[in-house]
Amino acid sequence: MFLFSSHIQKARKLVAASRRPLILTGAGLSLASGIPTFRGSANALWKNPELLKYAFAETFATDPDGMWRAHEDMRALVDSHESNIGHRAIHAMGTGRDVEIFTQNVDGYHARVGDRAKELHGTLHAMRCCTCPYRVSNEVGIPAPHSCPQCGNWLRHDVVWFGEDVRFMAEFALAARSADLVLLIGTSGLVTDTALIAREARARNVPVIEINPALCTPATRWSTVSLRGPAERVLPDLVAE
Ligand code: OAD
Repeated sequence: MFLFSSHIQKARKLVAASRRPLILTGAGLSLASGIPTFRGSANALWKNPELLKYAFAETFATDPDGMWRAHEDMRALVDSHESNIGHRAIHAMGTGRDVEIFTQNVDGYHARVGDRAKELHGTLHAMRCCTCPYRVSNEVGIPAPHSCPQCGNWLRHDVVWFGEDVRFMAEFALAARSADLVLLIGTSGLVTDTALIAREARARNVPVIEINPALCTPATRWSTVSLRGPAERVLPDLVAE
């Protein structure tokens, strides 16, 4: 692990000086909770091509039951685990600061520690109709068959699949423009363009901290400090008094 104490100290000072940090979290943050990442770890989900197909909107048309099951399995996994020390450290960062948290995670773990993260890829804890505005909570799991009580069309998990629009992009762009610090935590940067976010922040002299055990991500070259370690170890250090 390439984590030097000088890096942590520099990052700590940046966090301490920040009043309006923008935080983007990805699957790596929830790995310590027991939720596998999609890429970039030993048990990454997409090492299994059978699972990869369930990330594509087209699969819902050909295999709605498989899609339903795959997402319910994931919801059940999330619900049988808990948020972790990394989520709590991010929550602690919010004290006395105007933090904006955006997440690619669909697990709802930021909310469990009291943070209102904007969920770029939606949530496993709601279902919505494919066609009409009907939306319903899915806290305990809705059994199949799964048709909309209002219009009779299919209900689906309220997550974003490949081929669909990511949520909150206008808010995200706005937050990125007004942030005085950008933290990229546990994301490969292959879905949200973290390299662009980091490069634009640096162009405005806004520091960027990246937390990821991978040697290099697309955002690394634009980061002021790269903390190359697991979020659950780095984040508590970062906010320690
Ligand atoms: P990924 O699964 O693409 O990447 C996870 C990242 O976490 C990798 O860069 C790992 O190196 C890093 N990582 C592994 N262990 C870590 C740890 N303990 N602490 C911190 N980082 C760690 O996840 P995201 O970038 O969040 O989208 O991308 C997730 C999106 O990819 C999903 O929402 C899904 C998929 O495409 C859609 O399905 C639309």
